[in-house]
Amino acid sequence: MTDRILDYLRRNPSDAPRLVVDLDVVERNYHAFAHALPDTRVFYAVKANPAPEILGLLARLGSNFDCASVVEIEQALAAGATADRISFGNTIKKERDIARAYELGVRLFAVDCEAEVEKVARAAPGSRVFCRILCDGAGAEWPLSKKFGCVPAMASIVLEHAHDLGLVAYGISFHVGSQQGNVEAWDNALATAAGLFRELAERGINLAMVNMGGGFPAKYLRAMPGVPAYGEAIFRSLSRHFGNRMPETIIEPGRGMVGEAGMIEAEVVLVSKKSADDEVRWVYLDIGKFHGLAETMDEAIRYPIRTLRDGEATAPCVIAGPTCDSVDVLYEKTPYELPVSLAIGDKVLIEACGAYTTTYSSVGFNGFPPLASVVI
Ligand SMILES: Cc1ncc(COP(=O)(O)O)c(C=O)c1O
Repeated sequence: MTDRILDYLRRNPSDAPRLVVDLDVVERNYHAFAHALPDTRVFYAVKANPAPEILGLLARLGSNFDCASVVEIEQALAAGATADRISFGNTIKKERDIARAYELGVRLFAVDCEAEVEKVARAAPGSRVFCRILCDGAGAEWPLSKKFGCVPAMASIVLEHAHDLGLVAYGISFHVGSQQGNVEAWDNALATAAGLFRELAERGINLAMVNMGGGFPAKYLRAMPGVPAYGEAIFRSLSRHFGNRMPETIIEPGRGMVGEAGMIEAEVVLVSKKSADDEVRWVYLDIGKFHGLAETMDEAIRYPIRTLRDGEATAPCVIAGPTCDSVDVLYEKTPYELPVSLAIGDKVLIEACGAYTTTYSSVGFNGFPPLASVVI
């Protein structure tokens, strides 16, 4: 939460929930990443928050962009990035989208299987490809599962196939899971990447780059290490596994870049109980899973919530959204402490909402409009 956001909210009252993002925090975070890993290029993960003001700021600061779709590529270009600063980082792409990205000048693509390599070879001849390897996501609050990546033994086949098809077998990527609390989580994957560099070099294919993905956390309820601790641990691992043959490296921070820059102001719609002797209140907000807070799924991300009554006595409550859908409950398994005096009509401030909120918001579920967003 920043004074600028609080001041904006005071001056601009609203009846609807909205996200306010402070660009000063994004700028500070960009510099923190650039400083913590000075030889590593930053590719902002556009999916975290594609607001034009954020992309424009990062483009001016010198950031590169990790894009998941043609639309994100167009957004990065519109913000001032040149195509050589863009990676099409999604391993699952339609061939015509690869062709469109190529037409727009993009020459760096993620793959994790031979079929995807063949698409890139046909639609973006001569481009650089990096192969994503599986990561177990241990230590992450939002793990990315087995959906992306392949086992290392397959990665070497995929990259050799790319080489044979005239592509540049450029490197290895991985993602250690989003909201990764363990600064050492990159070590195993870097050891594997170094092994693949050696193995492919023996076959005459010289990889150049390791894409170390995202995973850098925002501070929600739980304390997390700062960016410098991640930088030091990653640099130690790079040195351990690559020695004096350091590869080109990139990181793709999303949450760590914009999470703490944003705050949602919401309103209490109802406070009620299910029986006279129910010990736990239900607090219903005017925002829920369908209007930006999707990452409360399985109660994975626990946002800090502030009220004007903080400091007064608290009691556990269930927090839910406003729609007529029974899954629209934010925190129930682990109830949330909020002031006993919290009342209908009170505003609440939900912190660290800059990442993965606006784009998750539905277009109009139950008639509620998408989450409004302001960048200051
Ligand atoms: C390919 C890729 N890179 C980077 C990110 C950003 O991750 P984070 O928000 O954990 O930094 C994601 C998130 O899903 C991703 O899929």
